[in-house]
Amino acid sequence: MKRFIHIVGLLLVLCVAAVFFMRYADPERDSSASFTNSPSEELLLVNADNPLPQDYRHENLINLYDQKNKHFQLAKADIEVCEAVYQAMDAMFAAAQKDGVKGFIITSGYRSREEQKEVFSTSADGISAKPGESEHETGLAFDVTAYGNENFELTPQFQWLSKHCAEYGFIIRYPKDKEDVTGVPFEPWHYRYVGTPHAKEIMDEGITLEEYLERQ
Ligand code: DAL
Ligand code: ZN
Repeated sequence: MKRFIHIVGLLLVLCVAAVFFMRYADPERDSSASFTNSPSEELLLVNADNPLPQDYRHENLINLYDQKNKHFQLAKADIEVCEAVYQAMDAMFAAAQKDGVKGFIITSGYRSREEQKEVFSTSADGISAKPGESEHETGLAFDVTAYGNENFELTPQFQWLSKHCAEYGFIIRYPKDKEDVTGVPFEPWHYRYVGTPHAKEIMDEGITLEEYLERQ
């Protein structure tokens, strides 16, 4: 009987040790893990004062071209975003379509640090964030335009998005007249996923992510 208790005790100790080992020896769980954009990172702030760490890891990117029956067009075949962002985008553009507003074309989503370097080096001053300072590196943002339009701000597509994007968890990340706060001029084409409750508050109050986070 004593021997049996010893064996059970030993097995228990081994089980606890195995659980600890699996949890803490997992390479995915190093210190940078707190920077992955899991749902709790919806409010991740990325700007010139808050660059992403070199080892930042986005989560679960998916290629938009591979998604069937989507309610938007693509400017190219290699655009990726986080899966949760895709789900929200598609629901949003499906709702726009129901309201008779179509012709959205996604022009950009996730960018690696290398891609952001390329975009930065070929953009006019102020249009592109510096590498490490762009939300595109998180997979939580996308750029959109409309068929046959030079100025997205003047389109019915922009009117619809500015009214409804928050219902789907998106904000106009660089609003008009907020350059002093965001450091970026008005970008009617750039949408950032923050989740519906946050997005509604931000858009209803006409504030930026910076201002919203400051008062949390
Ligand atoms: N155009 C925005 C600021 C970016 O490059 O992320
Ligand atoms: Zn953008």
